[in-house]
Amino acid sequence: MKPEILRISQVSKDQSVICILGSNVIPEYLTLSNSEKEFAGKRLNEKEEFIFINSYNKCTYLVRLKEGKSHYKTREELRKTAYNIRILIKENNHTELVIASDHAYKGAVEDFTEGLLLSIYSFDKYKTKEEGEGKKCYPAKLLIHGDVQESEWIVNITDAAYFTRDLINEPVNHLNATALAGEIKKIGDSAGFKVEVLNKGKIEALKMGGLLAVNKGSVDPPVFCILEWHPENCLNKKPYILVGKGIVYDTGGLNIKTGNFMAGMNADMAGAAIVTGVLYMAAKSGLPLHIIGLVPSTDNRPGGNAYTQGDIITMFNKMTVEIGNTDAEGRLILADAISYASKYNPELIIDIATLTGSAAMTFSNQAIALMTNADRKYINLLEECGNNVYERIAELPMWEEYGELLKSDIADMKNIGSREAGAIIAGKFLERFAEFPLIHLDIAGTEMLKKDDFYRLKNGPGSGLRLLSTFMKRLATDYSEQK
Ligand code: BES
Ligand code: ZN
Ligand code: ZN
Repeated sequence: MKPEILRISQVSKDQSVICILGSNVIPEYLTLSNSEKEFAGKRLNEKEEFIFINSYNKCTYLVRLKEGKSHYKTREELRKTAYNIRILIKENNHTELVIASDHAYKGAVEDFTEGLLLSIYSFDKYKTKEEGEGKKCYPAKLLIHGDVQESEWIVNITDAAYFTRDLINEPVNHLNATALAGEIKKIGDSAGFKVEVLNKGKIEALKMGGLLAVNKGSVDPPVFCILEWHPENCLNKKPYILVGKGIVYDTGGLNIKTGNFMAGMNADMAGAAIVTGVLYMAAKSGLPLHIIGLVPSTDNRPGGNAYTQGDIITMFNKMTVEIGNTDAEGRLILADAISYASKYNPELIIDIATLTGSAAMTFSNQAIALMTNADRKYINLLEECGNNVYERIAELPMWEEYGELLKSDIADMKNIGSREAGAIIAGKFLERFAEFPLIHLDIAGTEMLKKDDFYRLKNGPGSGLRLLSTFMKRLATDYSEQK
């Protein structure tokens, strides 16, 4: 459960407050006793960054901003502080908690609130014993105070993060491809974007050979969801297309994942959940942009008629692919979606996927691997947004030599190359299906975490949601300014 966020214009004297300080001055509205003020003042002068005061009737948390760091690093420090003090905050069972700032940078309250909300998320819907008291959410209300301009964005982005994470965390026995499509439809209806779900019959009629091949071992049918936000006042002539990998479970197929490598593969649809989250943000904030989301979805299993190594399949765009490994399934379903995107004559296609273990080996959890042939203006903007929300991107090359590794003797290409440079080869595979500029984002490293990376919680942090949502928002602003 997520706390409610409300704006307030005044702090009353018995309210618990988190105050973000940009100086050592303690603001008057905190109404502390003289001895408490003296205590806090002394600690601030000793350069303490966090001070907790438990008065009889309320708690005061002082967070002193670090100095001497570039702006986006300061912002990230604040979100991390929220994570670090989340347990203390929860333990104090506040029904209401004020978040305020003094002499801090503009947006500090928003950043802290975002960090706190992302930090206290938990996936507890299947815990029957903790009903009632245990499931109560503390703090129940966050009251944000002061000159807060982005409160609506914070409410929406944290709502989006919560449902994105909920979807990612669902196990496959509760969320197969059809159920995922149902959830996307519900979110579309509530936010106001259109959702069309193509069923197996339609997918067969369209001859989406990649999606159908991966689905062959499953008893559940595949789906292909088309999400669309097309406001009347949209400023772009050609749409932006987002493609999300929707593998609701990746066993590896007949090339079954061994050891513990299958664990967590219910989250192999994170890309799909994130694309849904970005469309939600666009609709909720009324972005004047035409955006389309494409979500191919199935599970990947070694069932009765599962596709095999050596199979030759014909993709949606008529190219043939020799299957070298059934665990390289993500690129097959994405490739069909990327070539399907051509019918919209897009400005840009962005795909987001938990695609390769290799991306995680390369960048660990520190960066989303990016590969692209799109205009640098988009990459520069994405990099800036990535720094600001601290979902950073790092680029891998698209050199043609890497693509040569996909050569097949019997088909147009294979779905694997060498073990080396695995993330790049996957990107080169996708590039062949893109007739329009493509940005490929591999989130295998940032999405599948072994432990919490602060507020990026280990269970499905939804990596890329905040990046792509801010990117879309910035694109909309750039269009309006050009007008
Ligand atoms: N879903 C996996 C990638 C993955 C691995 C994501 C670990 C998150 C954590 C993907 O479908 C996969 O299995 N990729 C293979 C490709 C290989 C067979 C060419 C991989 O990366 O090992
Ligand atoms: Zn796989
Ligand atoms: Zn996969």
